[in-house]
Amino acid sequence: MVTENFEKSLLALSLPERLKQIETLFVGNNIVFSTSFGQEDQAITHAIASQKLNIEIFTLDTGRQFQESYELIDLTVKKLAFSLKTYFPNTSAVENLVETKGFNSFYTSVENRKECCYIRKIEPLNRALQKADVWITGLRAAQSDNRADMPMIEWDAQKNLYKINPIIDWSFETLENYLAEYKVPQNPLHKKGFISIGCAPCTRAIAAGEHPRAGRWWWENSQKECGLHA
Ligand code: ADX
Ligand code: SF4
Repeated sequence: MVTENFEKSLLALSLPERLKQIETLFVGNNIVFSTSFGQEDQAITHAIASQKLNIEIFTLDTGRQFQESYELIDLTVKKLAFSLKTYFPNTSAVENLVETKGFNSFYTSVENRKECCYIRKIEPLNRALQKADVWITGLRAAQSDNRADMPMIEWDAQKNLYKINPIIDWSFETLENYLAEYKVPQNPLHKKGFISIGCAPCTRAIAAGEHPRAGRWWWENSQKECGLHA
């Protein structure tokens, strides 16, 4: 259904135009967008909500996020006037994890950290995508080496859907300009040195010159990915 020409044609368009084209191409399909309310996701949310596109916006609440992030969620939903679907982790899986390993097992090994990410993010994501034909994300190639070669549109055979990263080619500057132009609400933590924001116990502010994702799982020498985009 998706041709290389379609992907190329999107590159010349603004973000609202890109999303409109995607909605048109996939009309009749179930299109969903996952947001963590980071800067990339805020731009996409704005482009979807302001055009009232037929794209479901959902978030995964791990239960461990910053208070500032929860405040931003409420503010964004109110200001941009859209309905948000929230997926929570499976109750008994979290209860079992906490009972057997305590509340902060992610600091003790990469394996334990991945277990927590699986329970609080991956399993809920799989549920969120169960009926989706198209999954839109806020990934940018410039965010990390892992993401550098990611295409704008790919068929994900494992998940049985198209994964679309509509701002994969954007620089941080392009992103900041979009957010400023449309006065899109942003997490106040960005101004305090938090660039990439995940769960509170697993994110710290970065110093000038540090890699933008250095504050995520900072105690690990790992790939700095939770597995959502494996
Ligand atoms: S992560 O893999 O390190 O956690 P990152 O924070 O860079 O991901 O976000 C990349 C994309 O993953 C976002 O644009 C969004 O589509 C999705 N994502 C990440 N965290 C969440 C979340 N909590 N809820 C919904 N989508 C998320
Ligand atoms: Fe758990 Fe940390 Fe992963 Fe959040 S980022 S799900 S708290 S390990």
